[in-house]
Amino acid sequence: MAFVTTEQMMAAADREGYAIGAFNVENMEMVMAVVRAAEEMRAPVILQTTPSTVKYAGLPMYYANVKAAAKKASVPVALHLDHGSSFELAMQALRTGYTSIMIDGSKETLEDNIAVTRRVADACRPSGIPVEAELGKVGGKEDDLECTDPGYTDPDDAVRFERETGISSLAVAIGTAHGIYKGEPKLDVDRLSEIRRVVKVPLVLHGASGVPDEAVRECIRRGISKVNFATELRIAYSNGVKEFLKANPDAFDPKKYGAVGMQYVTELVKEKIKVCGSENKA
Ligand code: 13P
Repeated sequence: MAFVTTEQMMAAADREGYAIGAFNVENMEMVMAVVRAAEEMRAPVILQTTPSTVKYAGLPMYYANVKAAAKKASVPVALHLDHGSSFELAMQALRTGYTSIMIDGSKETLEDNIAVTRRVADACRPSGIPVEAELGKVGGKEDDLECTDPGYTDPDDAVRFERETGISSLAVAIGTAHGIYKGEPKLDVDRLSEIRRVVKVPLVLHGASGVPDEAVRECIRRGISKVNFATELRIAYSNGVKEFLKANPDAFDPKKYGAVGMQYVTELVKEKIKVCGSENKA
């Protein structure tokens, strides 16, 4: 089926009250595993790469992998740049063929965040590529991205941000964090409802690894249309590989342990798709 943008799938999710699962991938095996899970669940799906993932193998490598998997797949598949760290990287992803782009100016002042986001949105619009941006700061650590001074999204700022940038979707900071949580996260779901009330574009939840399923569902009920999962996929893939190699210390064929890593990722992604409610929405 089609290699698509995130626009239509997120609009449908927003309208019908479910969310699209967005899964960070690091290698070919994780790409295959996520697409396989989406097919088994008949779910539209987003695969995404962070700047440090892009540094590892390059935008064209992930593009080629996801494009090939999407071409064979029977469900809609999108490829998204997660946490695009500069205008230049966003433009490289656009030229490479990514079908969705995030520009993350959340560490900047509100004015500078608006300026860089508007620049990226203006540049992507002629090609019909949707742009996600972040307002407020999602805490925690993911790859090279670290935020030690998280801050919640202010609904009034969100109204201005949407109006002045022309974004397609907005990532909100409501108490989730990237990476592993030390305790159970406390989410400000009333703030989420208020943002949903005043902002028109679909909303995105970052940092969903380790958030209890019921809390993710509550966020979806209150207006989240895309949920990002990264750390739990990395752990699942690595656990599969480690367990295989522990049981088979003499193994040397990457296909053998890769297959187990993939199986672990596929099972996890199927669970997350259920939590998102996107099963049978392809
Ligand atoms: P987690 O690593 O907490 O799942 O966060 C994923 C994310 O938000 C990617 O942008």
